[in-house]
Amino acid sequence: MNVLVFDTIQEASQKAFEVFQEALANNAKVFGLATGSTPEALYEIMVNSDIDFTDSISVNLDEYYGLAGDHAQSYNYFMNEHLFNKKPFKANYLPDGTNTDSDAEVERYNKILAANPVDLQLLGIGGNGHIGFNEPGTDFNGHTQLVDLAPSTIEANKRFFASAEDVPSKAYSMGIASILESKQILLLAFGEGKAEAVKGMVEGPVTNELPASALQNHDNVTVIVDKAAASLL
Ligand code: GLP
Repeated sequence: MNVLVFDTIQEASQKAFEVFQEALANNAKVFGLATGSTPEALYEIMVNSDIDFTDSISVNLDEYYGLAGDHAQSYNYFMNEHLFNKKPFKANYLPDGTNTDSDAEVERYNKILAANPVDLQLLGIGGNGHIGFNEPGTDFNGHTQLVDLAPSTIEANKRFFASAEDVPSKAYSMGIASILESKQILLLAFGEGKAEAVKGMVEGPVTNELPASALQNHDNVTVIVDKAAASLL
């Protein structure tokens, strides 16, 4: 893992933007994208730049189960607001949170991923070490699945909802195996709340109790963190 530490989120996000530019210059076509507060500064830099995704395809990591794409807390809505409405792609794919036939949805999304192998996958990390919505205990061989959110994830994400009861308890998420199939991985982590998870990911044993530690099994991972997230390294 190549770990890069920056003083500020802005500088870190600028470096992340350069990783995207370099990938595009090297003919990357499919970008795996992430939601959460972490990539917001990166998406803002993209929106204010002349980066051109009109020949690119995006596939997102995850989506809350039960939320329609026009729900303000859905990841579909987040991506439209923060990136897609201002930076058009050739195609944007996300899991469909409204599909209650989980077998069909999983199959649909795995087919999309098989047809569009990810060149560069962007990731954030949960305070408990989750990537996508692959919570502690996840199977490292898993592809897209309908997952139960950990209580700590519901707690962490309730800030975006009226109350914890409003946070969906399930989500569709690419699996760890899907993530590891991408050619290149870029993980961003900011703030001291991520420091322990970052330490486990970079220095700890590879264990499904800390899902991000699976990234130690990939040969092209860049981790971009601010000083607070790097404070335990
Ligand atoms: C969320 C998402 C992840 C994200 C993580 C961190 O639950 N499913 O993809 O990386 O938690 O979120 P944040 O960036 O807001 O800290």
